[in-house]
Amino acid sequence: MKDTKDKNGTDFKGFAGHSVTLSNKVDDEITRIGRGTPAGEYLRRYWQPVFISSDLTELPVAIKILGEELVLFRDKSGQLGLVHKHCPHRQASLEFGICREKGIQCCYHGWHYDVDGTLIEVPGQPTATADMIKNKVRLGAYPTFEFKGLIFAYLGPIDEKPEFPIYDSLEFEDMEMVPYKAPFNCNWLQVLDAIVDPIHTAFLHSNMSRQQFSVGFGEVGQMDFFERDNWILGCNTRRVGDNVWFRINEVVLPNFTQAGAAFRADGTKQIYYGRSSFSRWVVPIDDETTICYAWANFGKRGDPQAYNTPEGPELIEQGEVFDRPYEERQRFPADREACEGMGAINIHKNEHLVRSDRGVAMMRQRIRKQIRTVISGNQPYLASKIAGMPIPTYGGDSVLSIPKNEKGDDASLLSKLAHEFVDIQFQVDGKSEQQRIKIVTAGLKEMQSRHNSKIK
Ligand code: FES
Ligand SMILES: [Fe+2]
Repeated sequence: MKDTKDKNGTDFKGFAGHSVTLSNKVDDEITRIGRGTPAGEYLRRYWQPVFISSDLTELPVAIKILGEELVLFRDKSGQLGLVHKHCPHRQASLEFGICREKGIQCCYHGWHYDVDGTLIEVPGQPTATADMIKNKVRLGAYPTFEFKGLIFAYLGPIDEKPEFPIYDSLEFEDMEMVPYKAPFNCNWLQVLDAIVDPIHTAFLHSNMSRQQFSVGFGEVGQMDFFERDNWILGCNTRRVGDNVWFRINEVVLPNFTQAGAAFRADGTKQIYYGRSSFSRWVVPIDDETTICYAWANFGKRGDPQAYNTPEGPELIEQGEVFDRPYEERQRFPADREACEGMGAINIHKNEHLVRSDRGVAMMRQRIRKQIRTVISGNQPYLASKIAGMPIPTYGGDSVLSIPKNEKGDDASLLSKLAHEFVDIQFQVDGKSEQQRIKIVTAGLKEMQSRHNSKIK
């Protein structure tokens, strides 16, 4: 072996820049989302949010979703249209089209399309020719659905279109839902991964940057992961004095995410059954760009109304506003910096996953399986078919008073409690929200007094 010491005796043996090799092979199967790609076809089986209603004016707008160039518009009768960007005649962009009482008219030669893509008028042509063209030509269009200030679209095969999924959290009467969007310049999967990587809140959002959420987030806590059908849950259970703080992050596959409060909860005050502070979809724009479309949920069981400001949803999303000077981003990094810093598409082969990354591994594996299900011609999981509607969700915080058992190991106690906590919530699937609040609260109180009597 060659001598790695210099003439002063300093040994450079550990410098591995030249010997550590890095892959440049992207995990195409689960990252790339264009039309015809495995992940792209999988994601197209679900309704995706594509725009915020209040941002849509009387003019059409060019948007990109799942790598497709599209135009979104509202015709004069109020109907939404989401169509291929280019007019089938000679490919002018319909973003320069004119919204009519019914549909949109291309600016170049006036071909007029309904919101479903039917060609309804071909001006300047003899009637017989126009009729023949109308029978032959169709503009590509996708179904849309508007709900509480977000516009959704279904980009998949039309005979596979599922019902729009109403999650229970979209109907909470005690929460104010405020639509927002958060853009990331990177692949969708690395943005989605963060939700099943709850340990990062202790580092990125607390100890490595500045305190971006409540103080209690600085504690690593116990991490337990749960999976069934479409759901992946990560329960982060922290000890805060005599209290136990449960915080569930959840993904409903393929890309719907929720988590507990960013600012209301810190483990110091009892909370029975707090619910998610945001309901959010991680939507691929193209392979290297992502937008999270979401509602921030304000109210007693979400984040405080004090954060219902223009910047508030961004602070809930990632602890910092998105648009800020580069130097500040370096000093106080948040999710945007962590996710985008991985590169346009994170190369999984270069990662070293550890025990606390179980949620990430679990989710990617489940996504891969679902992708293969679709590719082999079968139906992927649909939460609405499995659990009925409204679809139960679990993201949120609860804080119980259960002191340490001095005789036992606290980490095992926290893990045991996390399992009981999740089980109590699974048992109320299918019940109304009012019944769930009652049953879960009673279950948590019972769990608390049972453990406390064991400790005494
Ligand atoms: S290009 Fe649209 S009508 Fe001709
Ligand atoms: Fe984060």
